[in-house]
Amino acid sequence: MVSVKVLEFYSGIGGMHYAAQLAGWDCEILKAFDINDIANNVYKHNFGAKTVGQVNKRHILKIACSNLLPSSFPLQKLIEGLDVAYFDNWRADVWTMSPPCQPYTRLGLQHGSQDPRSKSFLHLLTVLDTMVHPPSYILVENVKGFETSDSRNLLVNQLQKTGYNFQEFLLTPSKTVGIPNSRLRYYLLAKLNPLTFAPVVTQITTPPENSIIYDFIPFVNEDFKLYGKENNVIRDYLESNVNHDVYAVPDKTLLKNGYVFDIVTPSSRHSCCFTKGYFHYAQGTGMYQAEERVCV
Ligand SMILES: C[S@@+](CC[C@H](N)C(=O)[O-])C[C@H]1O[C@@H](n2cnc3c(N)ncnc32)[C@H](O)[C@@H]1O
Repeated sequence: MVSVKVLEFYSGIGGMHYAAQLAGWDCEILKAFDINDIANNVYKHNFGAKTVGQVNKRHILKIACSNLLPSSFPLQKLIEGLDVAYFDNWRADVWTMSPPCQPYTRLGLQHGSQDPRSKSFLHLLTVLDTMVHPPSYILVENVKGFETSDSRNLLVNQLQKTGYNFQEFLLTPSKTVGIPNSRLRYYLLAKLNPLTFAPVVTQITTPPENSIIYDFIPFVNEDFKLYGKENNVIRDYLESNVNHDVYAVPDKTLLKNGYVFDIVTPSSRHSCCFTKGYFHYAQGTGMYQAEERVCV
């Protein structure tokens, strides 16, 4: 089988890379793009240094730096700082994209494409216009809320214009594949003509722009179901040999705020997301794991 060549945009700590491995893809990640040095270092730790790094200076556009960043920011790390020829030269089969969700999240200002953090995503959409070797497959992931944004409409219009077929989904791991985690997310899969999707038997919700957004995976098969074994518990996903004491919540905090914590144990069948709110807020930050001890 020929290895699939992937560009991983907004690579973070490598969630898409890991998902590709878990799905058993025979793939090569050609390049992983992220502006965040900490994320890039974690990515390197997880997958090696090869894919994360500098790009050839001749492909860096002379763009105005986003007003969110200091003018000295190295442009080679910004996706919007790279020209069409750069992306074309990779001849990638697949683009994966998890663009910043702050412009779309229901808890935010929802400025969509007007938010400077959307700039890189809009740049990638524009790049598709003039590519000689566009990717055959595109995967976009974002928060619930993206599906009603103007960026989603721009994405869909651009895909239609450049010859892609696509399907959209709102999925959560617990309902979809039996993984004990609630994280409702928007996903879009696109295939370049003449590639198409198998016909879908049922449809569920009907959100904007006359499109269909599935809340299940219409092509799920027995192999796929194996990723989420029946009756999975959190223990199935925990690393062993970890010194939990260094992460322990102090007794003082537990006594004061424990009653609002979302506490789960290794045998729980649900969990919610981790957030950056830990240490800042007590309620709504995400889950806390309690140890299970047998008392004799
Ligand atoms: C939603 S997170 C993606 C998380 C990723 N899927 C993972 O598994 O960790 C978005 C990422 O985009 C990066 N990012 C934001 N704007 C960017 C830009 N203009 N160019 C490159 N990376 C950017 C952020 O640093 C962040 O890591």
